[in-house]
Amino acid sequence: MPTTPAAFAAYVNRFDGVAAVGLVVCLRSTGELAGIVNLRPVNRDDPLRRAIGFGAFSGMTGRGYMREGVELTLHIAFHRLNLDGLEADIQPGNTACLNLVKRLGFRRQDCSVPPIWIDGSWRHHERWTITREMCYPGILS
Ligand SMILES: CC(C)(COP(=O)(O)OP(=O)(O)OC[C@H]1O[C@@H](n2cnc3c(N)ncnc32)[C@H](O)[C@@H]1OP(=O)(O)O)[C@@H](O)C(=O)NCCC(=O)NCCS
Repeated sequence: MPTTPAAFAAYVNRFDGVAAVGLVVCLRSTGELAGIVNLRPVNRDDPLRRAIGFGAFSGMTGRGYMREGVELTLHIAFHRLNLDGLEADIQPGNTACLNLVKRLGFRRQDCSVPPIWIDGSWRHHERWTITREMCYPGILS
């Protein structure tokens, strides 16, 4: 998570608003930042699919803000950006993240995900996905 104005500016500069989209989750009442959500390309052969990443700022967890922010992001992804699917690679011990994606209807894929080097060690991940049809059943018919 970016923790300084400079880090936040650098983070924002990584997005072009088309292939890579960065969003912030704000409180309606005050505009205060609750967290960030981003969509990043995963595969050149599948331009309508994105990886979703998200995180809450300190003091903003456990209040449903991120669930609502990620849910709004699904709406933007499937209705405004016309994407087909999103995927999230999540460490098996990340209970808060798993609870959030399960609540929003993501499903675990039966596939092996290459371990990712984080903070000095290889971490295993599970892949969770959601498609436009899963989010809005009947939308394709
Ligand atoms: C993953 C992460 C964003 C989840 O944040 P979070 O605050 O737990 O998620 P929510 O905003 O949905 O809050 C849900 C919790 O708030 C509680 N809550 C309180 N009021 C609520 C409301 N009005 N609506 C919904 N939930 C509410 C729920 O009980 C829920 O707790 P539970 O999961 O124990 O049942 C956060 O843990 C995080 O930033 N982690 C570090 C970064 C990370 O791991 N990112 C994901 C990488 S894939």
